[in-house]
Amino acid sequence: MEFVKLQIEEEIAIVTIDRPKSMNALNNQVYEEIIAHLEAIQANDQVKVVILTGAGEKAFAAGADIAQMVHQDAMEGRHLGGLCHRSAYLLENMRQVTIAAVNGYALGGGCELTLACDIRVAAENARFALPEVGLGIIPGGGGTQRLSRIIGVGRAKEMIFTCDQIDAQEAYRMGLANHVVPQAELMDYCKAMARKIASKASYAVSVAKAAVNTSENVDLPSGCAREQDLLGLLFATHDKKEGMEAFLERRKPNFTDF
Ligand code: CAA
Repeated sequence: MEFVKLQIEEEIAIVTIDRPKSMNALNNQVYEEIIAHLEAIQANDQVKVVILTGAGEKAFAAGADIAQMVHQDAMEGRHLGGLCHRSAYLLENMRQVTIAAVNGYALGGGCELTLACDIRVAAENARFALPEVGLGIIPGGGGTQRLSRIIGVGRAKEMIFTCDQIDAQEAYRMGLANHVVPQAELMDYCKAMARKIASKASYAVSVAKAAVNTSENVDLPSGCAREQDLLGLLFATHDKKEGMEAFLERRKPNFTDF
């Protein structure tokens, strides 16, 4: 693929947006390549965690490609929105855990990709913003929906209406970034977290991800009822038996992922 690279290191897939001349801006092709990689990863049983990042030291992704959008009509804009949503939906709902390693500007569509990831780790130079209303549009990759779920409606509206950039420390204070680390340590930090997650019972991790996602969309009694059913389901797995026996026998579990 031309603009999005995939590297698989044992149980970790690293997806890198690599279009440095335009700050990793996201044109249709970039979104299509992200989707193709994520779909391939979904079908790969070996991969337990996905790290999404940008090439270089300046940008995760500086948003949808303005040079492309300036020429697009309404239906093309709608199609672009579909690509944004498809990428985000995959990151949010794929069985693997997704970590955004935010290595610089995460603006517009770039910020929206991070919002769809399960976990965001920011380098000290990370900058988050949704600058779309300054361009005469609105965040079109889930920004108007997901940002408020993460940082609250009041702060999300302020970010969207002012287009202000939020630095890494402020993102951390708001709960937008889970951690802030020096840029040189960003990938090692994310890989260490990925390895820790990959060492757990991966089916249980994916069920936990689905259960937490459910909490965003249903009322508390419905979410708890689903949680109860999922807990029962996991009692039927090999990894539940193995995890608990290993604890009682004071040894490391040997999970088989089913
Ligand atoms: N689209 C296309 N090209 C972009 C781009 C973008 N989103 N962001 C940066 N670039 C290009 C610049 O045009 C420039 O290209 P040239 O060298 O050919 O002139 C190159 O990347 C370097 O950018 P700058 O010279 O501007 O670098 P800087 O360090 O001065 O500023 C920046 C960096 C703050 C990221 C600035 O480029 C910027 O503000 N970019 C636009 C951010 C933006 O508005 N993104 C939202 C897009 S809308 C969206 O994403 C819609 C959606 O929800 C789907």
